[in-house]
Amino acid sequence: MLKFINYWKQRIRLKVFTLYALIAAVCITAVACSSGGGASESEPSASIPPEMVTDYIHTVLEADRTAYTRHVVNRSEVLEGKDNEKGVLTVEATEGWQTADGIPLPAQMFRLGSEIAAEKGDGSFTYGLISTWNINDNQAPKNDFEKEAMDSVNETGEPYKGYQEIAGQQYFSALYPDVAVAEACVTCHNTHPIHLERYPDKVFEMGDVMGGVMINIPLEES
Ligand code: HEC
Repeated sequence: MLKFINYWKQRIRLKVFTLYALIAAVCITAVACSSGGGASESEPSASIPPEMVTDYIHTVLEADRTAYTRHVVNRSEVLEGKDNEKGVLTVEATEGWQTADGIPLPAQMFRLGSEIAAEKGDGSFTYGLISTWNINDNQAPKNDFEKEAMDSVNETGEPYKGYQEIAGQQYFSALYPDVAVAEACVTCHNTHPIHLERYPDKVFEMGDVMGGVMINIPLEES
């Protein structure tokens, strides 16, 4: 009888040990898998459609542009020679910022960034501002694509996206509305001597489309 009990005690101990071993093996496997070891076949695909790429780029550009205008330019005591009632910073935002010890206008700040970006890579990824009511001659819509895109954005207030070829290179291009997001955008443009001379009937209001942000992404030949 004692022999029989001992036999079963031993069998149970063996079973419990096997069970522990099994649980330990499962746990180790789970930890190894969740830490990503050798899971290359389950990695998600990294290709992003070009229209999403331009959306992301535009979100960042617009955020920086708005933040600079609202929180720096809008708070300057002088805006292009005129007193800014709400200004608290003893500085002038002016086109001649380099010689006048002032700070750049939002459009100039934007261009300074785009010039630095163009120096990276082969320079085929570009972005910039354009407008139907441009003050700077270089910022008029240039080719057919830009003219059509600008007309569409002015009319709909929505982005315009498509493909175009420039100098033998294929591009995915998108034009996003550039909107009057701060009082300073409107007052400065409406009273600018070049604006008054060229577009006397165009009076911008808050929320209006004032131009567009053009983004060009080069595409590889497939
Ligand atoms: C204190 C004056 C001033 C303020 C503030 C200002 N702008 Fe301008 N903006 C200009 C001048 C001057 C230019 C042309 C200078 C240049 O780009 O070299 C310009 C250029 C532009 C352009 C490119 C087309 C063009 O006119 O050459 C757009 C679009 C534009 N501004 C929209 C805006 C918007 C939107 C805001 C507010 C977020 C804004 N501006 C704020 C003076 C101003």
